[in-house]
Amino acid sequence: MSLPGRNDPCWCGSGKKYKKCHLDTDARGESTPTTAAPRAAPAKGTVRPGFVGAGRPVPVEIWRPPYAETGDPGPRTKRSCVKTPDEIEAMRAANKLARVVLDHVVRHVRPGITTDELDAIAHAKTIELGAYPSPLNYHGFPKSICTSVNEVICHGIPDSRALNDGEIVNCDITVYYQGMHGDCSETVFVGRIDPEARRLVECAYECMMLGIKAALPGRPINEIGRAIEAHAKKAGYSVVREFSGHGIGADFHMEPHVLHYFDRAARTRIDPGMTFTVEPMINQGTWRSEIWEDGWTAVTLDRKLSAQFEHTLLITPQGPELLTAGDGPPWFRRQIAAAEGAAVEAAGA
Ligand code: MF3
Ligand code: CO
Ligand code: CO
Repeated sequence: MSLPGRNDPCWCGSGKKYKKCHLDTDARGESTPTTAAPRAAPAKGTVRPGFVGAGRPVPVEIWRPPYAETGDPGPRTKRSCVKTPDEIEAMRAANKLARVVLDHVVRHVRPGITTDELDAIAHAKTIELGAYPSPLNYHGFPKSICTSVNEVICHGIPDSRALNDGEIVNCDITVYYQGMHGDCSETVFVGRIDPEARRLVECAYECMMLGIKAALPGRPINEIGRAIEAHAKKAGYSVVREFSGHGIGADFHMEPHVLHYFDRAARTRIDPGMTFTVEPMINQGTWRSEIWEDGWTAVTLDRKLSAQFEHTLLITPQGPELLTAGDGPPWFRRQIAAAEGAAVEAAGA
């Protein structure tokens, strides 16, 4: 694939001339393709694949997960999903760092930034903290974080596509530290806050929090999906079924399996010492999805919006504890407050 001429439309789909759009980023080598061509263009939707640059290097002194070189995490171990006190301490540390990286990256989201630039920002922060970015080479994933824009449900690969005003993007950060993974994500607004997108993002966040509140020791794990599905349905949204929450620890994904919809058969008991994620993906339209030809990017079948939030929890005898808690409200709430503050000021002026 050759690059467009200076006055041709940019390959990213912005509609702008190449010279006014990605010519500079390409010239700096920030969107160097590792594949000969950009990924096959999907038939519809708002998001087109861009170039995927090379995976970023991790200093040798950083403790890597077993798949870092081979891409293969190996068979799912039967490791008990109840953690020892030492493992719990390491989980606290890893998840705290995941939160630091997530807080750092979401503050850089703005119209014009590429998802690969967000990957660079998150990667630099992760290694500065002495951690390994868990997605990198996990089953061959090419980048350090997942960035899922608009109709992308999850596992979006950071690439040379620039974010546009009015879009939404989920940034999903997982880090490996002290031998454990910590995993969290938030959906945020890019510039202008579209009212329909806002309602969806709010609902997805509420769904996650209600799912977490239902994660009580002694209860079956399907209470989580029951709470999430009821709330999403009330708002007129659907819950993604093909992707779930998961146990997490020395392995990125392990037992238990955490469905975000109600399944009467999923009656695994929630026990103190378990650590798992709750990460519902909530769709405006159908819950059905398909995967781009890159083998990763999951999109809604109808290309309507999807939003997601994720926390990693520790189950204590008293109830769920957020290992990836932030200090203060999630970033999208701060964006809304800022926009409303600005509107009030403008009205008062
Ligand atoms: N962080 C995602 C999750 O919440 C998993 C990403 S796997 C990757 O489970 F390979 F796509 F990075
Ligand atoms: Co995640
Ligand atoms: Co997860």
